[in-house]
Amino acid sequence: MRKRSLSVRQNLLLIWKLAILLSFIFLVFALVRIHFYYDDRSPDDDDGDVFQGNPSLAFMFLVRRDLPLDFLWQTFYQNVDAANYSIYIHSEPGFVFDETTTRSSFFYGRHLSNSIKVGWGESSMIEAERLLLRAALQNPANQRFILLSDSCVPLYNFSYIYNYLMGSSKSFVDSFLDMKEGRYNPRMSSVIPMRKWRKGSQWIALVRSHAKVVAYDNVVFPVFKKLCKRRPPLDVSKGKQNLKLQRQHNCIPDEHYVQTLLAMNDLEGELERRTVTYTLWIQSATNMETRSWHPVTYNYASANPQQIKRIKDINHVYYETEHRTEWCKSNSISVPCFLFARKFSRDGAMRLLTQGSFDSSALSHTSP
Ligand SMILES: *[C@@H]1O[C@H](CO)[C@@H](O)[C@H](O)[C@H]1NC(C)=O
Ligand SMILES: *[C@@H]1O[C@H](CO)[C@@H](O)[C@H](O)[C@H]1NC(C)=O
Repeated sequence: MRKRSLSVRQNLLLIWKLAILLSFIFLVFALVRIHFYYDDRSPDDDDGDVFQGNPSLAFMFLVRRDLPLDFLWQTFYQNVDAANYSIYIHSEPGFVFDETTTRSSFFYGRHLSNSIKVGWGESSMIEAERLLLRAALQNPANQRFILLSDSCVPLYNFSYIYNYLMGSSKSFVDSFLDMKEGRYNPRMSSVIPMRKWRKGSQWIALVRSHAKVVAYDNVVFPVFKKLCKRRPPLDVSKGKQNLKLQRQHNCIPDEHYVQTLLAMNDLEGELERRTVTYTLWIQSATNMETRSWHPVTYNYASANPQQIKRIKDINHVYYETEHRTEWCKSNSISVPCFLFARKFSRDGAMRLLTQGSFDSSALSHTSP
């Protein structure tokens, strides 16, 4: 009996010593981690921040399934040095880009293998953007990161777009104060102060340091994830459950997240506060009660050379809520505001291609 309890005591002592040893090892490990973490983040030895070689432009496509306008992009990427750009696609899980799903070999195998199911107006949309950014950040050559949809078209040739974005040390992020819509949820206030709440287009072009802020943010994203739920349509038959959901904030994360996050990091001085992707909005007149804004789709008729020229000639944007006129500049030089446009149907894109609105060598002779 005595002997037994002695051995129990000895065992306890041993366990105790082991625990102290493990804690010590853990502490050392943690210190080493912290050391390397700060090393990683320090601006002068970061992998891509002072990249020496040929800077590359990352095209990040956020699509529902395939890329219906691949034929246009095929022409766009043709004859471009592959070192100058890279392509990433976030599509629905399991969708593969290969010879059976796209006519353009530039997109073969460019889909993310860890893509997620995206719901409109849900935080999954911004998580998909973050997945694209994390994938693109793996390549230290990528210095600019442009987000595009499956209905986006380029308005210029590759070298023009490349020089425009690389020539500016700023990100292009549409961002303005949003007072009236009530999408801000007061329950966010412990993390996101209301004065930092911003609204703007989802279609962004980021410099590498801002891409990292968005990709690795673990402060603001969880708040959006928790508090931005999509409000379902009113359905009385579902009773209480539906009424409860009606109280949720429809905050459309993709129109607020990046803008708000960058404002919270005091980075607005490093932005051109406008988007480089054109969208024409109209208010639907059909339903008087829920008049909502919709982007116009350019089809064959509306994608005419005059319309394309009108978009390319825009040189300023007016922001009503701030009484701010943004004269479009890149590196203090006046430039056209828009490099891309949405939303284009297949026919609209076909017309753009054949009428040569972006001068891609062989096809440009048909331009007006
Ligand atoms: C690209 O577009 C610009 C501006 O539209 C034009 O000046 C330039 O010649 C074009 N370059 C090529 C290689 O087509
Ligand atoms: C692309 O890369 C080559 C070098 O690989 C470079 O000479 C060229 O100017 C780059 N820029 C564009 C816009 O293609």
